[in-house]
Amino acid sequence: MSHIHIDVEKISFAYESGRTILTDVSFHAAENDSIGLIGANGVGKSTLLKLLVGLNLNYEGSIRVMDIPVEKQTLSQVRSRIGYVFQDSDSQLFMTTAYEDIAFAPRNYGLPEDEVKKRVEQALHLTGIEYLRDKQIYKMSGGEKKLVSIATILSMTPDIILMDEPSIALDPRNRRNLIRILNSFEHLKIIASHDLDMILDTCKRTILMSDGKIIRDGATKEILSDRKLLEDNGLELPLCMQGIADKQVKEKPAYIGRRGTGTEE
Ligand SMILES: Nc1ncnc2c1ncn2[C@@H]1O[C@H](COP(=O)(O)OP(=O)(O)OP(=O)(O)O)[C@@H](O)[C@H]1O
Ligand SMILES: [Mg+2]
Repeated sequence: MSHIHIDVEKISFAYESGRTILTDVSFHAAENDSIGLIGANGVGKSTLLKLLVGLNLNYEGSIRVMDIPVEKQTLSQVRSRIGYVFQDSDSQLFMTTAYEDIAFAPRNYGLPEDEVKKRVEQALHLTGIEYLRDKQIYKMSGGEKKLVSIATILSMTPDIILMDEPSIALDPRNRRNLIRILNSFEHLKIIASHDLDMILDTCKRTILMSDGKIIRDGATKEILSDRKLLEDNGLELPLCMQGIADKQVKEKPAYIGRRGTGTEE
């Protein structure tokens, strides 16, 4: 088995007693997996990602990140491998400026300041936000904060990337750049998102959740082209596929014409 992997076995989790959020969730994620995590609002996507980085530890079952069990004693070890982008940027960013936030993880590893600076500049460049370098976080827009959040994980050169709604609030050009960044990342990534077009562009595998359970785990192309499966689970075909469906409808005007205009042949 490869060095970089995540194993989740039969986990169940509740924030409050009496209300189970995740039930019997199991999957194996390998080094070269790119996984889209999809499902309607409230099905448990963010909760699952949070468990993988140990933000809630009172789960039942087993979670192992690169063979390390996720528990209180191993948190720093687990988190040094995983770059995790929160759904809510305000939960992620806690320093005053973009530079300080992006420098935090490499500094925390004890890297020399010239290496820290190099990594920050690189992360700013990759995300295209050099102009935000010294801007105060609290003065940033939602999209700007999202880009800084993404940069904070790039500077730590993680083995595994977990991103929760990374394209939310991004304009089309920044979203396209995010897709480029994700596709250039060579190891395991898991991306929770309602942006199914982005999932289609970045993830070969998709896990579909409903009501705290995994109900489908398979090839993204198959799952994201299954209109009935998606609609039964509160989702829709990706926009690029809806375009294909619309085109097929437009290709039937003769029939509409015959009935609607009385121009029978
Ligand atoms: N801190 C918390 N305390 C109690 N319940 C919570 C907490 N965080 C989330 N929940 C509940 O857990 C369930 C799953 O939430 P979660 O955020 O994992 O869903 P999600 O699939 O990420 O949804 P979305 O698509 O809206 O981001 C929801 O019913 C939510 O209300
Ligand atoms: Mg969520």
